[in-house]
Amino acid sequence: MTHDKKRLSDLHFSKEAAEYDRSQRYAPLRAVHPRIAEEALSEPFRTVLDIGCGTGALLRIIQEKGTDARLFGIDLSERMIRMAKAKLGERADLRVSDSEKLPFSNGAFDLVLCTFSFHHYPDPGAVLSDMRRVLAPSGRLILADPTVPVPLRQLMNLVHVFTKDGTVRIYSKKEMEALVEAAGLEIAKWAKLDWHTYLLAAKKS
Ligand SMILES: C[S@@+](CC[C@H](N)C(=O)[O-])C[C@H]1O[C@@H](n2cnc3c(N)ncnc32)[C@H](O)[C@@H]1O
Repeated sequence: MTHDKKRLSDLHFSKEAAEYDRSQRYAPLRAVHPRIAEEALSEPFRTVLDIGCGTGALLRIIQEKGTDARLFGIDLSERMIRMAKAKLGERADLRVSDSEKLPFSNGAFDLVLCTFSFHHYPDPGAVLSDMRRVLAPSGRLILADPTVPVPLRQLMNLVHVFTKDGTVRIYSKKEMEALVEAAGLEIAKWAKLDWHTYLLAAKKS
């Protein structure tokens, strides 16, 4: 399953990459990016890593707000990274990589972002544990992802076994809290950005 879902995510987003920033399908994601950027900028940081950064749209908003932080992004899809490089150029370090094996040293980042990517991860615990590893002491994680109430969530999770976009699972608030805490991160905030999107902020203690 691990390999299949990752392969499907890569295939799906590689197909979507060229039109991703204009696609109506992803308009709800773009609509909440400014609020995620606002949360990111609510505390100072010198280094930020966006995991599953896609076309680099969120990093671009953060950059346009005038931060002088060093910007990093990784994504499984080479085409997504190509789009991000076209957008951010030399101003960001962008790499093709798997979120489970981040190519960075321990404690390298003050801030880790992960938006609309987490539900594609076959081993979410491994990703959270690597997020924690690359966070500096007192570093922050900001994660945004879809969630819907039961029974819709249960139905979607059944359907996602067969869907072709690489989605693995949509989590409840309780499930996310358990996963984040098991990885050794302390939850500082949970907020709804719209009816089907949450934002979670956590700290490395
Ligand atoms: C819906 S897009 C979100 C992109 C961007 N974060 C945004 O907010 O617009 C999901 C992204 O997660 C990436 N992704 C999926 N699984 C991944 C993995 N295991 N490691 C790294 N990136 C992954 C996909 O390639 C895709 O670019």
